[in-house]
Amino acid sequence: QYEIYLAGLGGVLPQLPMRFDELERRAEAALSPSLVSYIAGGAGDEFTQRINTSAFEQWGLVPRMLRPTAERDLSVELFGMALPSPLLMSPVGIVGLAAQDGHGDIATARAAAITGIPMIASTLSVDPLEAVAAEMGDTPGLFQLYTPTDRDVAASLVNRAEAAGYKAIVVTVDAWIPGWRPRDLSTSNFPQLRGHCLANYFTDPAFLALLDKTPVDDLSAAVAKWAQLFGNMLTWDDLPWLRSLTDLPMIVKGIGNGEDARRVKDAGFDGIFCSNHGGRQANGGRSAIDTLPEVVEAADGLPVLFDSGIRSGADIVKALALGATAVGIGRPYVYGLALAGAEGIVHVLRSLLAETDLIMAVDGYPTLADLQPNALRRNLFAG
Ligand code: FNR
Repeated sequence: QYEIYLAGLGGVLPQLPMRFDELERRAEAALSPSLVSYIAGGAGDEFTQRINTSAFEQWGLVPRMLRPTAERDLSVELFGMALPSPLLMSPVGIVGLAAQDGHGDIATARAAAITGIPMIASTLSVDPLEAVAAEMGDTPGLFQLYTPTDRDVAASLVNRAEAAGYKAIVVTVDAWIPGWRPRDLSTSNFPQLRGHCLANYFTDPAFLALLDKTPVDDLSAAVAKWAQLFGNMLTWDDLPWLRSLTDLPMIVKGIGNGEDARRVKDAGFDGIFCSNHGGRQANGGRSAIDTLPEVVEAADGLPVLFDSGIRSGADIVKALALGATAVGIGRPYVYGLALAGAEGIVHVLRSLLAETDLIMAVDGYPTLADLQPNALRRNLFAG
């Protein structure tokens, strides 16, 4: 931040927005209306999406002065990965299209390589998972699985992810069917967009074996086949089979209450991802941050990842203090991508971490271990 301040004194201002609202506004101006609907939109009247962000305001960090914070340590060990910070890029399907060259998954992987911040690559990527992994450099990657109904295809995707070097599998359970998203519905573009995100299927031997003709020869039949496999409603009975697919650490994403967290733990999974999908799936739910404490309590020591609503370093600090082992962001990095490709993502990630680090410095919390629930109090004004 000193560099930015000093450059500002010399009249040189940052080219990319420093505030989230400006980042969002400029990214939306740069994207097509249908992509704006797809990325920014949420379920219903977007109440849950709104409170995902505003609920952070109910918490305030207790300032603790005169503690030694000249040296801070944000590093964390997660599923055997030594990470520089507790920040991850959450999986965003079709993110590829947000890049000017249409290869946003590759750009996101490049940003991961530059920053050391892991990307969780979505099943619904524009480029195949192997190509995405190849761009990650030394930064470990995670693969997010939307589990197809065909178990051979599911196993094949997991095996490919393992062979490509991904370090963990994140199984998303809250989006086997798309939510009621009026912005997508009114632009009617969601089905069209989906056609662009099947690279992982169209390169998959188990999927191709189910087709009479290759996707090149009959695209609509291949898309129809995919649509048939995609809507797999997993139940608790499927978890032992899922768990048996790999020895890699497995995390279940989309958990929002303590009882479910306990069941995931009991099923032998390695982590719980507390998330409401950024408010995109079901409106009328609780804010994600409100569900975090009971998930952490039930996880009873198992790592808990958190996303949905994080827009600032202050939000990151609060989620960590409420017990998250690490946090993810979705839309913020997509907006960086839309504005300036990998460089835009790097800008967003570094800005968030700089703010996190400065809050820890100013308020007296030099390490992540110092960020405990007692570091937070309710802000009375927020009720
Ligand atoms: C998502 N999310 C998501 N999650 C997932 O597990 N697989 C996916 O393919 C996608 N796709 C996707 C697309 C878009 C456009 C968005 C915005 C989100 C959910 C994502 O991983 C994450 O949970 C939320 O984005 C977090 O909320 P914020 O940070 O966007 O508020």
